[in-house]
Amino acid sequence: MKVFSTIADFREARSQIKDRVGFVPTMGYLHEGHLALVRWARGDCDAVAVSIFVNPTQFGPNDDFARYPRDADRDLGLLAKEGVDLVFMPRGEEMYPPGFSSWVEVGRLTERLEGAFRPAHFRGVATVVTKLFNIVQPTRAYFGQKDAQQAAVIKRMVRDLNMNLDIVVVPTGREGDGLAISSRNIYLDSEERRAALCLWNSLRRAEDLWSKGERDAETIRQKMISFIQQEPKAKIDYVSIADPETLEELIEVKPPALILLAVWIGKTRLIDALLLGGNLSESAL
Ligand code: PAJ
Repeated sequence: MKVFSTIADFREARSQIKDRVGFVPTMGYLHEGHLALVRWARGDCDAVAVSIFVNPTQFGPNDDFARYPRDADRDLGLLAKEGVDLVFMPRGEEMYPPGFSSWVEVGRLTERLEGAFRPAHFRGVATVVTKLFNIVQPTRAYFGQKDAQQAAVIKRMVRDLNMNLDIVVVPTGREGDGLAISSRNIYLDSEERRAALCLWNSLRRAEDLWSKGERDAETIRQKMISFIQQEPKAKIDYVSIADPETLEELIEVKPPALILLAVWIGKTRLIDALLLGGNLSESAL
């Protein structure tokens, strides 16, 4: 496995690979959810590239950029074990040198949900992902369904800007009890860890209602909200039942429908998502 911190060195190594390159962009502090994407890429492509970069432009002034967990040595050990070929691990100034002033805005899709609570978040994500695609030149790039809005935004961007690669959306990796695996789970104390299960349990309730024939989105949404509100440590930012592609709110739940939610557990903000009535393959989002 070769590890690079400059764009020039990475490009040099990338230019030696003529076959299909699968790319997994990450912010590090890797866990089984990230490794699932790496394994998917490994299975699909001839070579795998991973980036580790805690992208400052996607964090707001009150977000957790400074305290975001980092452990490069551990990350590199995990990636080496997975048989990754190239790792790109730039410093902040390599990606955002003085004078940097160009941004990618994806529009309407970025205004709701996460975008409403975290202004400029998706501008930062779309910009850094565009830069990473230009540097890595992947055949396919892999994103997790947990961050369902992010996956939809990237797909829209690739389509709108004619970027020459395929986007693959990989099902959410979960702990044994269903909690979506996330780098932010380490912020939770044991009581909060228990409380955090209300995200997954509310999604399961929604799926249960849907499978018993409930089709009114507002009824399902309200039942999820009352369920989460029974947990004193939880504070809801949003619960949404939306079209997976446009992220417009649905009135009638017709598959495939995406349920997305963001909930504070104490001082930690967690998100999760579930696709109703669709398969979880790359075409699902
Ligand atoms: P990060 O949060 O590190 O996540 C990197 C990728 O791993 C994302 O595509 C995310 O959806 C996926 N992922 C995280 N947890 C997952 C889980 N439990 N199951 C499946 N996939 C999971 O998302 C980002 O970084 C950044 O916004 C990035 C795209 C790298 C741009 O900076």
